[in-house]
Amino acid sequence: MKVVICPTAEHTTALTARVIEQALRQKPDIVLGLATGRTMEAVYAHLVTSHRQAGLDFGRCRTFNLDEYAGIAPSSARSYRTYMDEHLFSRVNISRRATHVPDGSADDIVAQCAEYEDAIRASGGVGLQLLGLGENGHIGFNEPFSAFTSRTRLVTLDPATRQQNVGMFDDDLTQVPYHAITMGIATILDARRTVMVVNGKAKAEMLARVIEGPMTASISATALQMHADCLIIADEAAAGALSRRAYIAHLMQHDPELRALLS
Ligand code: GLP
Repeated sequence: MKVVICPTAEHTTALTARVIEQALRQKPDIVLGLATGRTMEAVYAHLVTSHRQAGLDFGRCRTFNLDEYAGIAPSSARSYRTYMDEHLFSRVNISRRATHVPDGSADDIVAQCAEYEDAIRASGGVGLQLLGLGENGHIGFNEPFSAFTSRTRLVTLDPATRQQNVGMFDDDLTQVPYHAITMGIATILDARRTVMVVNGKAKAEMLARVIEGPMTASISATALQMHADCLIIADEAAAGALSRRAYIAHLMQHDPELRALLS
């Protein structure tokens, strides 16, 4: 696990977009694992700007999103499919065929989850997986107690998650689904690279547990401690509860990979 702390949320999202951009330029047919949530909106805005102003080409890449609400049709304004269309897919040169988001309205969710896993595998696997952090420590919608060996499946959302995402549902909690489809933790750990971006004071305590705490199924993101190529990009506010700040600063200064990233 490598950790970069940036002064502000603007810096973290710009740096995250730069990491994705570099990966895409290096391997134009890369398979990207994508995430949703407010934090990602700025990341995608940067990628759209790079596409428009610097010719960043999405024409050969394929994408797999982490998750989707269950019981919500892809065409719904509240689906993560619509979120992705609005923030990224409709603004860059990627064909719909190359993008994958679980279908929350599928009749046979179990079969669809298995197909999603098969499609990821058939694509050659995710090269770079983008991740946000839920306030309860989830990655994707892997809520507390999710097995580290879990795969794409139907999950029941934590009340804290429903509350955290109520903004997407006109602040009406009754509209927030109780279930979702998510890549599993093992699915996420299969990605060759993982990049997690975390902003804001509200996630500071959780981020400290993710980075410094013991691995536990109660905090899904602690599974990233097992990932061989995991980069965490946090703003100062989110890094506020870390106890190993001096060590992280030392690594940022002397680790060759981090130095290259920050130069
Ligand atoms: C949702 C998504 C997560 C995401 C989280 C963070 O719960 N399922 O994948 O990481 O939101 O959201 P935000 O960036 O809005 O804090």
